[in-house]
Amino acid sequence: VKIYVPRDAAALALGAEKVAKAIAQEIAARGFDAEIVRNGSRGMFWLEPLVEVEAAGKRIGYGPVKAKDVPALFDAGMMNSGGHPLCLGEVEDLPFLKEQTRLTFARCGVTDPLSLGDYEAHGGLAGLRRAVSMTPAEVVKEVTDSGLRGRGGAGFPTGIKWKTVLDASGERKYIVCNADEGDSGTFADRMIMEGDPFVLIEGMAIAGLATDATKGFVYTRSEYPHAIAVMSEAIGIARQAGILGPSVLGSGRAFDIEVRTGAGAYVCGEETALLNSLEGKRGIVRAKPPLPAHKGLFDCPTVINNVISLASVPVIMERGAAFYRDFGMGRSRGTIPLQIAGNVRYGGLYETAFGLSLGEIVDRIGGGTRSGRPVKAVQVGGPLGAYFPRALFDTPFDYEAFAAKDGLIGHAGIVVFDDTADMLKQARFAMEFCAVESCGKCTPCRIGSTRGVETVDKIARGIEPEKNRVLLGDLCNTMKFGSLCALGGFTPYPVMSAMTHFPEDFSPAPVVEAAE
Ligand code: NAI
Ligand code: SF4
Repeated sequence: VKIYVPRDAAALALGAEKVAKAIAQEIAARGFDAEIVRNGSRGMFWLEPLVEVEAAGKRIGYGPVKAKDVPALFDAGMMNSGGHPLCLGEVEDLPFLKEQTRLTFARCGVTDPLSLGDYEAHGGLAGLRRAVSMTPAEVVKEVTDSGLRGRGGAGFPTGIKWKTVLDASGERKYIVCNADEGDSGTFADRMIMEGDPFVLIEGMAIAGLATDATKGFVYTRSEYPHAIAVMSEAIGIARQAGILGPSVLGSGRAFDIEVRTGAGAYVCGEETALLNSLEGKRGIVRAKPPLPAHKGLFDCPTVINNVISLASVPVIMERGAAFYRDFGMGRSRGTIPLQIAGNVRYGGLYETAFGLSLGEIVDRIGGGTRSGRPVKAVQVGGPLGAYFPRALFDTPFDYEAFAAKDGLIGHAGIVVFDDTADMLKQARFAMEFCAVESCGKCTPCRIGSTRGVETVDKIARGIEPEKNRVLLGDLCNTMKFGSLCALGGFTPYPVMSAMTHFPEDFSPAPVVEAAE
């Protein structure tokens, strides 16, 4: 019998370590023949720590389990899928999981993240094996044909980026994985690194073969200690197994990976600031051109892709471009791991084909607010994403559809707010966030964000509100079109959407100053 207890940071934060210890004690005390496997998370955070017992080919779930529940679970016959109020039945049958299309996250929560045997038994390495048998140009074509676009947020076609690097000349070439997942409410990169690190290693190795790059870096943040530990250990295992090193799977072509840790500046998720940080310099943004694809890390041609873009490549290589591009809508092909967070009943990771409406995601999948109050706004795409009101809930989850509504899907983070949210305060938060995280290189962002905070404060205090609302709109336009990177350029999205869709919050009663 195998008992799965997640080692994912979200489960650990909710007490998974204590639960694992309590289970180990019960197994020893009762003399059971059972093995504890520390898996990744299934992404159903309201059920964490989610313990699964595998027997007779079925995985029965229990959750959320606390250490103090463990003896009673064993008494109730947990080892025999017994009845207990925490018993959820077969995990794969839970509607939140069953209705998903898990391509990138197929193994996350299912396998032991550090067992290469488990990885291969669940389809791992088939994509890399196929890539080894192909020319770089053929691999690039397969990825281009799949329609895969950058999952970090910008949605640039991955195959075209790879072709630019393949065609560029350089003494060396690099694959840089952007794992600096800084958006509030997002956790897909972390979950894959902790729950299925070999899929990222495999995706990076395929990118290396496709572009003639021999070295890869995973740039992540110090706030992700568990991801760093799992990734580092998995890279060591992959090296030992000949997946990484001087001859990838015996192909005679070299590729190796190192993990690098940033200090947590949000702007280091911007690709050129990330490159500076990786080179040991201060993390400030570089002007583009030159594109990193031409002149990136140490001035060499460099592929920079988000974790999820790279982790989606193995399944594309395994099942073929046509299989992947069959999912989705319009120019948004394949699947996207939605990260549902904030004031929501069922928060977690939900991988699905593009095209679900925002309303379906929030009301049906997320189950509405945890507080039980009406949903007021949903911020999509991280702290630089727009706030969507219920009136826009019919917007399909698609890059172009969101852009048409002055929003963005970004890294697919969805944060739900109920009717107690004050959207003026949220707009102020966006400006303040930008002021704190600005790298300071360009004026619209460095100075504009601070003036933005002051202007929102004036509106809040009822000081010339009409004039200041117009001023705020002007300032947002200047930041949007005059900033060097997305931090200053996208901060106007939350501010303007808050002001446009929730004007009542921007018309507070004037504050009457007390007379002397
Ligand atoms: P961008 O549109 O400038 O570039 C997208 C990517 O395509 C870059 O890697 C760029 O180098 C590459 N590219 C562009 N033209 C190319 C060409 N002709 N050949 C080869 N490569 C080419 O967008 P940027 O500034 O890289 O990203 C902005 C996005 O980042 C926003 O949409 C936002 O949603 C997202 N974001 C994500 C965060 C996260 O935590 N994942 C945090 C903050 C923002
Ligand atoms: Fe730096 Fe802000 Fe300008 Fe980006 S927009 S380069 S973060 S100052």
